Amino acid sequence: MTSPNLTIVVATDAQRGIGINNTLPWRLPEDLAHFKRVTIDHPIIMGRKTFDSIGRPLPNRRNIVITRNPGWKHDGVEAVASLQAALDLVGSTLTHVIGGAQIYAEALPHTSRLIVTEIDRKFDCDTFFPAIDPNVWKEVARDKHHSAEQGFDYAFVTYDRI
Ligand SMILES: NC(=O)c1ccc[n+]([C@@H]2O[C@H](COP(=O)([O-])OP(=O)(O)OC[C@H]3O[C@@H](n4cnc5c(N)ncnc54)[C@H](OP(=O)(O)O)[C@@H]3O)[C@@H](O)[C@H]2O)c1
Repeated sequence: MTSPNLTIVVATDAQRGIGINNTLPWRLPEDLAHFKRVTIDHPIIMGRKTFDSIGRPLPNRRNIVITRNPGWKHDGVEAVASLQAALDLVGSTLTHVIGGAQIYAEALPHTSRLIVTEIDRKFDCDTFFPAIDPNVWKEVARDKHHSAEQGFDYAFVTYDRI
């Protein structure tokens, strides 16, 4: 069932790539700042691999990590065994799903909004975001930028479920 309070936040390359070797394929500080602005003060839900790639709980956010390992724990993190258990924890609070590919794919049917940083360049990637079906998602905002340092265009795009 779709939850009105659940938003996906993701950065994708020109072919929907999101990661390589459990890290980000690009360096884009403006996107990290955008991510912080969007997620601060709200719970975040992530897969265990994404948590490992970040390496620590993100401050001023309730950090919820999904893992099948019942023994997994980390200070400052709530570990749960399924996406449903994570959704049960946050109830009707505005919550962001922050990856990675496995958790995005599972969360997409439950999500009502996508906040996507679309990077207009192709990177070497081994993990991908699902296609954004235009019959399901409508673009409602597009904020275009250019990274002089990296030499590519990117945009902060919001999609709402139709
Ligand atoms: N560009 C972006 O915006 C962005 C954002 C986030 C991440 N990333 C990238 O994405 C990559 C990581 O993505 P990923 O798909 O490999 O991993 P992931 O989705 O972050 O985590 C996968 C892990 O989550 C747990 N899990 C997944 N489905 C589950 C389920 N149904 N029930 C219980 N636990 C479940 C398992 O943990 P256990 O193995 O512990 O059981 C699984 O190994 C990295 O390269 C990262 O940098 C990119």
